[in-house]
Amino acid sequence: MIYKILVVGSGAREHAIIKSLNNSRHQKEIYCIASNMNPGINELCEDITIKDINNCSSVVRYAQEKNIQMAIIGPENPLAAGVSDALWNCNIKVVGPKKDMAQIETSKSFTRDLFKKYQIPGGAQYKTFYSMDGVSEFLQKLGNDYVVKFDGLAGGKGVKVSGEHLANNNDAIDYCQEIIDSGGKFVIEEKFVGEEFSLMSFCDGKSLKHMPIVQDHKRAYEGDSGPNTGGMGTYTDSDHLLPFLNTDDVNEAKMINKATINALRDKYNDRYKGILYGGFMATRDGVKLIEYNARFGDPEAMNVLSLLETDFIDICFGITNCELDEIQVQFKKRATVCKYAVPEGYPDNPTKGQPININNITNPDQLYYASVDIENGQLIESGSRTMAVVGMADTISEAEVFAEREVSSIIGPLFHREDIGKDFLIKKRIDNMNSLR
Ligand code: AMP
Ligand code: GLY
Repeated sequence: MIYKILVVGSGAREHAIIKSLNNSRHQKEIYCIASNMNPGINELCEDITIKDINNCSSVVRYAQEKNIQMAIIGPENPLAAGVSDALWNCNIKVVGPKKDMAQIETSKSFTRDLFKKYQIPGGAQYKTFYSMDGVSEFLQKLGNDYVVKFDGLAGGKGVKVSGEHLANNNDAIDYCQEIIDSGGKFVIEEKFVGEEFSLMSFCDGKSLKHMPIVQDHKRAYEGDSGPNTGGMGTYTDSDHLLPFLNTDDVNEAKMINKATINALRDKYNDRYKGILYGGFMATRDGVKLIEYNARFGDPEAMNVLSLLETDFIDICFGITNCELDEIQVQFKKRATVCKYAVPEGYPDNPTKGQPININNITNPDQLYYASVDIENGQLIESGSRTMAVVGMADTISEAEVFAEREVSSIIGPLFHREDIGKDFLIKKRIDNMNSLR
């Protein structure tokens, strides 16, 4: 039997997904619906077709033409558009939740309301606003520590934090007004102080299998400064924890992910089948939820899928067939560091269309293509995060050396964060956590 599997999306995360599918012992043909002609993906697929990945009927049509049995949806936008619902309706199994349940990512108020209703630990004091009524009062109630979140998908740019993006209440009110003027709504919630970490879990709607804990670096520049990005780099440790966390923190996060899946099953009488990505903050008062994503993180997928020992196709069918509890999901006991090379000027004013050269890369197996195209045989960066590399070793510090060497060997008008995974940055996180506990 040859499995015909469709991957929706064409960034580095989807390249990592496709590499893992390709490593499976099963006979398979991999297809990709893409927004750009990713050369790394192209090499591994039967077919890669550029289409609107958010258009349900064109994704379904393509899947039917190719006799696809299972689809894996990489990014959030197709989930928000209901691509998973449309595929299931045509008897195609999907790793990626249906639209209702993807609200865990697409609506900040949905998630906070779910936590409140089901009394899931780790929630925040919050309020949803559809107008400016009561905004000043609620800001005052939270003192100087609040976060304003546009209530919808904003590519990581809808969240503004007091003391960072918002200098005072006037700034906050201006931002709220901007959202109302554009016809949107927003959530104001308490600000947590601590260290962020991510726990991604494979879910079949009932059973969860957790992946190693990852830390992302959202800020564009060294020392966690500059504008927010999709993520400049990530690391994991060989014990699958992080140096500033203890097992209690991680167990709390696992329990919160599990409680969330149970709440969704109860609310919709249906199963969340896909990846649940919890973004958490370890604080003085325990683990708090910052946000959920309904998919693999990018670059987090590159770290964890590089470590995955279990056959990925078995895991995917475990998810779609509700048999995840029967699968032993295992990861290598090694550390990883992933670094992204991004265009100069990214994220606000990126260069676009410039040639890049990867001839000096020594380990192409751990190279992931993102926003790149090919023109007349020449690799071109196309304006967003360009390429990611993963270093793997027994310690974070050794993995960082590999990742740094590889990422700096890519030639072109690009930059990356040298500090990700370096000892001094990790020590800063440990010291911060120690000062809070
Ligand atoms: P999100 O898009 O919800 O992941 O938010 C982007 C970033 O804003 C997070 O990675 C955090 O650094 C920060 N953030 C969001 N919510 C909070 C919160 N309640 N307290 C502190 N920081 C937050
Ligand atoms: N790296 C964070 C995300 O994928 O949303």
